[in-house]
Amino acid sequence: MEINATSTPIQEQDRDAIIVGVFNGAQPEGAAAAIDAALGGALGDLIASGDVSGKAKEAVVLYPRGAIPARRVIAVGLGEREDWNAEAMRRAAAQGVKKARELKAESAAIVLPDGTDVETAAAAIAEGSLLASYYYHGQKSKEAPKLLPTTLDMVFVDTDAAQRGIAVAQAIAAGVAVTRDLVNLPPNICDPAHMARTAEEIAAAVGLHVEILERKQMEALGMGALLAVAQGSDAPPRFIILEHNAARAGELETVVLIGKGVTFDTGGYNLKPGEGMSSMKCDMAGAAAVLGAMRAIAALDVPLHVVGLAPASDNMINGHAYRPQEVVTASNGVTIEVINTDAEGRMLLADALVFAKKYDPAAVVDIATLTGAKVVALGNVAAGLFSTDDTLRDALVAAGEATAERVWPLPLYPEYDKSIESDTADVKNTSGKRDSGVGMSAAFLKHFVAYPAWAHVDMAGMAMVDRQLAPSYAPKEGAAGFGVRLLTEFVRRWAEK
Ligand code: BES
Ligand code: MN
Ligand code: ZN
Repeated sequence: MEINATSTPIQEQDRDAIIVGVFNGAQPEGAAAAIDAALGGALGDLIASGDVSGKAKEAVVLYPRGAIPARRVIAVGLGEREDWNAEAMRRAAAQGVKKARELKAESAAIVLPDGTDVETAAAAIAEGSLLASYYYHGQKSKEAPKLLPTTLDMVFVDTDAAQRGIAVAQAIAAGVAVTRDLVNLPPNICDPAHMARTAEEIAAAVGLHVEILERKQMEALGMGALLAVAQGSDAPPRFIILEHNAARAGELETVVLIGKGVTFDTGGYNLKPGEGMSSMKCDMAGAAAVLGAMRAIAALDVPLHVVGLAPASDNMINGHAYRPQEVVTASNGVTIEVINTDAEGRMLLADALVFAKKYDPAAVVDIATLTGAKVVALGNVAAGLFSTDDTLRDALVAAGEATAERVWPLPLYPEYDKSIESDTADVKNTSGKRDSGVGMSAAFLKHFVAYPAWAHVDMAGMAMVDRQLAPSYAPKEGAAGFGVRLLTEFVRRWAEK
C-alpha cells in the first residue's frame, strides 16, 4: 500500500473510500463535521440513532450519493476522547483500512484527530494502516489476492511533518513484515540457512554489514553450548551477525540485540508432548524480531552502532543429539550440565551473550521465546523483562508502553542462582523442578553476561496472534511480529538520551 500525506480536505477527495473518526458520545467534529455537513447531517444521524456509538472497533459505511466526490464514507469509532493516543490511532486506522479492503476499495483517504504532534500522529496512523494490510499467503497454490486498498492518502495540514511520520512507519512496518513472514514460514523452509539468507537480503536492502558464521567458525570460537543443541539436526546451525554503522563503531555507542533462533523446538531427547510441540515453529521469533528490528533501525539510520546477533539452530533428535547429564563448555569457558534438552534456547543465548562482549556494548538486550513459565506468569499480554541495569529496564518498559508491545519487569533474585548450582559443572541449564522457571532461566543467562547493562526479554506466548487479545492492526492469525516495534523504539530512544 502506497501512503502519502496531503492537505486536500477529505470531503474534496475523489476516492473509493474516505475514512473519518467519531469519539464515543460526541457529535462529529473537525473533518468528520465537514463530511456530516456535506451529507446533510447523515453522520450525525448515525450517531444520534446509536448506530455508531464511537466505541473503538466499530466501522460503519455511508454512501454519499454524489454529495461529495468519494464513493463511500467509512466512519470508525475512536473510543473515548481522553484515551486518544498513538495506540488508539493505530487501531482506528487499522479498523478503517480493513473496512476499506472488505469493500474492495482501491483508493482510500483517511483523516483522524492528531492529538499529539503531527509527526507522531502520522507515524501511528500509517503504522496501524500498514500493519493491518499485511497478508501471508504461505504455500497456497491458488494465486494471492490483490492487496487493497493500493493507495492511502492521509490528510494533515503540515504535510512535511506528516511525511516524516509516514517514512518512520514505513521503515517499521517493513521490519515487522519480514519478521511475520519468517515466523509464519514452516520449519522445513525456515531453517537456519534460510534465516541467514534472509539476513543477507535485509542487509542488501538497507545497507547493513552482514556476516554469517558456520559450524566450523563456531567450533573455533568454542561455542559448545550452541553446538550441543545444533548437533541433533541435519540442518546445520548459523550464527547471524548484522551490523548498522559498523564503520563508525569506534565513535558511536554500541547496542547489541540478540534473538533466540530455534527454527524448530522438538524438545530434543526431553521430547515435548504433541500439543506442546505443535506451535514450535515460532521458537525463532526472537531472532526474527532482531532481524526485523535491524532492518527498521538501518532504514531509519539511527545514530548508534547497533549489532544484531541471531544464533539459529534446530532442536532435534538423532544419533548425535545432546543428552541430559552431558556437560558442555560455552565460549567463555563456563561448563554447563545439561539437565533438560528442552532448555535449549538459553544454550544458544549463552554463546551469543558471550560473543556480544567483543563489541564493548553500552547495552545488550536479548529477546527469546524462552519459557512456558513466562506464559503462566504473564499470559499472552506482556513479555517478561529482566535487567541488571535500571536505566535499561526503564527504557525498555517505556518503549513497550509507546508501542503497545508491553514488557513487565521480573526480579533477578539471588535465590534463583542457587537452584541451578551443579555438582559436576559450573551451572545447570535448569533445576529440573517446575518452580521459578522464568527467574531461573534469567539466572542461567547471567553466567554469560560480562558487561554492566544487560536485559532479557522473555517473549514466550507473544510470537503468535492471540485472537481474543489482538489489536485491530494484528493479522487474524499467525505471527504477530512482536518485538520489532519494541526494539526499534528502544534503540531510537537510546540514541536520543
Ligand atoms: N521454546 C520453549 C518455550 C516456549 C513455551 C515458548 C511455550 C513458547 C511457548 C523452550 O525452549 C522450552 O522448552 N522451555 C522449557 C524449559 C524447561 C525445560 C526448563 C519450558 O518452559 O518448559
Ligand atoms: Mn525447548
Ligand atoms: Zn525453545
